[in-house]
Amino acid sequence: MLNIKQKFHNFMINHWLKVANNFYSVHNYDRAIKFYGKILYLDNKNYAANCNLATAYFLNNDYQKAQTYFEYLQKADSQNPWWQTYLSQIYQKQKSYRKALNAAWSSVKISHGAGEHQVNLAYALYEIAEIKGVDFILDMVQKFYQNYPDSGVAQQCYNTFFHPQKTAICNSEYIEKIFDIFAPEFETTLNRLHYNSPQMIAHYLAAVCHNRSNLQVLDLGCGTGMCGANIKQIMPQTVLWGVDISSQMLVEAGAKKIYNQLVKNDIISYLKISKFQFDVIVASDVLTYFGVLDEVIALVFSRLKKNGIFIFTISQNNLNRQSYFLTLSSRFVHRFSYVEKTLKKVGFSHIENHKKIIRKEGKKDVNGGIFVAVK
Ligand SMILES: C[S@@+](CC[C@H](N)C(=O)[O-])C[C@H]1O[C@@H](n2cnc3c(N)ncnc32)[C@H](O)[C@@H]1O
Repeated sequence: MLNIKQKFHNFMINHWLKVANNFYSVHNYDRAIKFYGKILYLDNKNYAANCNLATAYFLNNDYQKAQTYFEYLQKADSQNPWWQTYLSQIYQKQKSYRKALNAAWSSVKISHGAGEHQVNLAYALYEIAEIKGVDFILDMVQKFYQNYPDSGVAQQCYNTFFHPQKTAICNSEYIEKIFDIFAPEFETTLNRLHYNSPQMIAHYLAAVCHNRSNLQVLDLGCGTGMCGANIKQIMPQTVLWGVDISSQMLVEAGAKKIYNQLVKNDIISYLKISKFQFDVIVASDVLTYFGVLDEVIALVFSRLKKNGIFIFTISQNNLNRQSYFLTLSSRFVHRFSYVEKTLKKVGFSHIENHKKIIRKEGKKDVNGGIFVAVK
């Protein structure tokens, strides 16, 4: 039987938990932290309060305090992989790179290779390789690949860091996993990075097709539908078709209610099986997941009507003289001359390109360009 004091404690704990969770859900972390603290004063082992307090500190960018609570949770509840994933991100911010890699690896192991924890490890490997150099992370890449040889994420990491020269295309399972996870925050994040590829594509399409209506436009790697939305805004009569490998990106695109049809498929497979001929095919920041462009460009050519138009953006390789080059972020950069040569080879007649800044990466500009090619 609970005595009056215990009953009162329980009542207050439940009440404060509701109040704290309400503040948490509207991102008022300062107030939420205050109420979780009150709960822990009465019951310092309260699981919900410890979990939410740790993440509230994390989301409030107070990594020192978040670390204390996540380390406590990790000891108290060692089979939950999320504590290690959060800790890996905190250690990385604190520049404890070896600890960050080990924590990311632990979360992969504890979760038996769950996709979200593999993606967290892949991002840690890329970001730490940028700072500390590739040699620093190679042993972890090897361990990841040896333990999960069938995982697309592990395969992509292995290829990026061990065999960038021999890699011709990104692993489609890797792309599907990262974009499934990224989908809900994709547009907010990209807007913060001044991403303007969809606007540019819509602008050039309108310039080339200003007097044509009811165009059938295929949006390759349509993602959340940013490109489609920009096209519809300028040319409302357009009929849009979208294809993407990530179901979660397609959920976001579907919510815009602008596509005539959305299909979950790999671009190459889709282009091979599609029977339809399009007026226009667009690919906004998508060919960066392809190194060799011959096959995808030839298939695009085959799916366009006579005088059909292919408009796409690329990131420019100004790191070396190679036609295409796989960067540490598992994205390809291309030389303009290579792209142009490939377009000509498959039969595109009129080809123009314009150098542009596609978006930011950290504080740096991502240099690239837009291509407009007519069949
Ligand atoms: C950087 S996002 C760009 C999304 C959209 N085009 C935009 O500009 O907002 C790249 C998209 O291409 C998709 N993608 C990349 N490679 C693909 C492939 N081989 N097959 C299908 N979709 C692919 C990804 O899933 C992702 O949604």
